[in-house]
Amino acid sequence: MRARKPRKRRAGPAGVAAVLLLVPLVSLAEPSSARRGELLHLLKQDCGSCHGMTLKGGLGPALLPETLAGKPPEMLIATILDGRPGTAMPPWRPVLSREEAAWLVDVLLEGVPREEQANQ
Ligand code: HEC
Repeated sequence: MRARKPRKRRAGPAGVAAVLLLVPLVSLAEPSSARRGELLHLLKQDCGSCHGMTLKGGLGPALLPETLAGKPPEMLIATILDGRPGTAMPPWRPVLSREEAAWLVDVLLEGVPREEQANQ
C-alpha cells in the first residue's frame, strides 16, 4: 500500500487558509489505506463509466479540480450519496459511507494523483 505523495501546490493565502480549514475535518475520519485503494478503483471503474476514465466527462460532467472549483463540498458529497433525481447520477449511499464520499470529494478537488490513475 503506498501513501499518497505530498503534492506541491501553488496556493495563494486564501487557498492555504482553505486547505488548513479542510485538513482537520477530512483527517478526522479518513478511510483506511486498503479502503482508499478500493475507493480509487471504484472512482475509475464505476464513476469513470459515466464521468470518463480520466474524469474528463462523458455521460456525466467532468469531475476535474477546475470544473469542481468553487462548488460547495457538502453539495458534492450529497450528490454522491443521494444522486441527482431525474438525471443519470445514481445514489451511492448503499456502497459508500459519508466519510468515504467526503474523502472522494477531497480527492476530486485535489485531482487524482497520476500514478493512482495509472495503477488502478
Ligand atoms: C450512470 C452514470 C453515472 C455514474 C455511474 C456516476 N455518475 Fe456522477 N453524475 C452523472 C450525471 C449525469 C451527473 C450530472 C447530474 C446533473 O445533471 O446535475 C453527475 C453528477 C455528479 C457530480 C456533481 C458534479 C457537479 O459539477 O455538480 C458528482 C460530484 C458526481 N457525479 C460524482 C460521482 C461519483 C463519485 C461517482 C462514483 C461513485 C459517480 N458520480 C457515478 C452520472 C453518473
